[in-house]
Amino acid sequence: MKTTEIPASHPGATETFDEQKSLEQLFSEHKGRVSDKWASYFEFYEESLARFRNRHVRILEIGVQNGGSLELWAQYFPNAKCIVGCDVDPKCGQLTFADDRISVVVGDAATSDTETKILSGYGEFDIIIDDGSHKSSDVIRAFARYFPHLSEGGIYIAEDLHCSYWRGYEGELAGPYTSMAFFKRLCDVVNHEHWEIGDKRSDILRGIADRYAISFDEDALSYIHSIKFLNSICLIEKKAQENNVLGVRRVAGRIADVDRDPLALDGTVREGASGVESKVCLPEENAERLAQILEEKEALLAELANERDALLAEKQLQAERLEERSSELAALTKMLWEKELSITKMVRKNARLLKIALVLLGPLSARGRLRALLPVGIYSTRRMRKLRRKKLFDSRAYFVANPDLTNAGVDPLQHYLQSGFEEGRKVGLDD
Ligand SMILES: C[S@@+](CC[C@H](N)C(=O)[O-])C[C@H]1O[C@@H](n2cnc3c(N)ncnc32)[C@H](O)[C@@H]1O
Repeated sequence: MKTTEIPASHPGATETFDEQKSLEQLFSEHKGRVSDKWASYFEFYEESLARFRNRHVRILEIGVQNGGSLELWAQYFPNAKCIVGCDVDPKCGQLTFADDRISVVVGDAATSDTETKILSGYGEFDIIIDDGSHKSSDVIRAFARYFPHLSEGGIYIAEDLHCSYWRGYEGELAGPYTSMAFFKRLCDVVNHEHWEIGDKRSDILRGIADRYAISFDEDALSYIHSIKFLNSICLIEKKAQENNVLGVRRVAGRIADVDRDPLALDGTVREGASGVESKVCLPEENAERLAQILEEKEALLAELANERDALLAEKQLQAERLEERSSELAALTKMLWEKELSITKMVRKNARLLKIALVLLGPLSARGRLRALLPVGIYSTRRMRKLRRKKLFDSRAYFVANPDLTNAGVDPLQHYLQSGFEEGRKVGLDD
């Protein structure tokens, strides 16, 4: 078995390649600073990192916490040039490491200041691991900022993407702006040459870029070679652009009993599909936009419903007022009618009084008539009869209609003329 010596400049240097322990072994035996990883990650890391293991790799890890993973990377990569950790927590700045290849930059990885500090020593990295906040915005921003600084042939790993489904991490299932939505969209970027619509790679990330106020380096996107998803992990491999094209068609063999067409295609490039409309449809973002429109319409609807309720309340109030006014009007009408009736009665009585006076007094002057009304017992029997005949006044009927006068010793006609008329007394029962 071939063994290769490792340079003796670091703790792992005493081992030979065939003796190298797996990451899981190193992790299990680790006694230093604390690190925690999910069990399924070890196999993934072993497969993905194997080809880098003994190279002079430059490693960047966003998210240091206790610094355990930095120590493990140092052990796992005996020839690593540098292992740079970045953490927003100032306490990480106090951490010291026995391995001088490890350094820590304190700062928010999503800022230009921190980016400058991170890049100042090495310019670019071969392995970048994002084990930071796991919030969708941070994960996406970190990729936009650091993927351009990944070396050709390098790999970018985003850990703990299960957070992409949790609201506390700006996640949601099938949400258009989550870290998972972003990495899934990068799969389309890998197939950019087949879009047939002339859009830039970054166009398909426009909604996400706008959302997080970032931009994606079009050139860097053309270096995305492959995207690999595992439970909670996404690995993006960067390669030179010529490695990221479909290439020419290769045809092998000579016997084509079923279809001979492929024989003619050897060495040709894929032809563009004809009749493909130039159209970018971003369904999740559309759904979000439609949901927003729906929300606005619902708010408008609620506003209109409030206005309608207010108008109905006003209508009810007006109806109640109208009813009050109608009752008042009915009462006034009744009162008016009663007044008219009493006026009519009064007019009729006045007319009767006048006629009585004419019968009793004959054709006297007005002054004479008035004077003549006053004395008692001056009416002749003949005139009294005339009054009865004309049904203007009947003494008996007067007493019947006004029984309180029966024994009062008054002359009925004189009583009527002097006070009964003004008192409104009836002249007969049918009056
Ligand atoms: C899961 S821990 C890292 C664990 C570490 N990689 C390990 O395996 O031992 C996440 C760390 O990311 C840090 N962090 C959160 N947001 C950050 C940001 N915007 N920039 C840099 N570090 C951040 C937190 O302070 C925390 O220490």
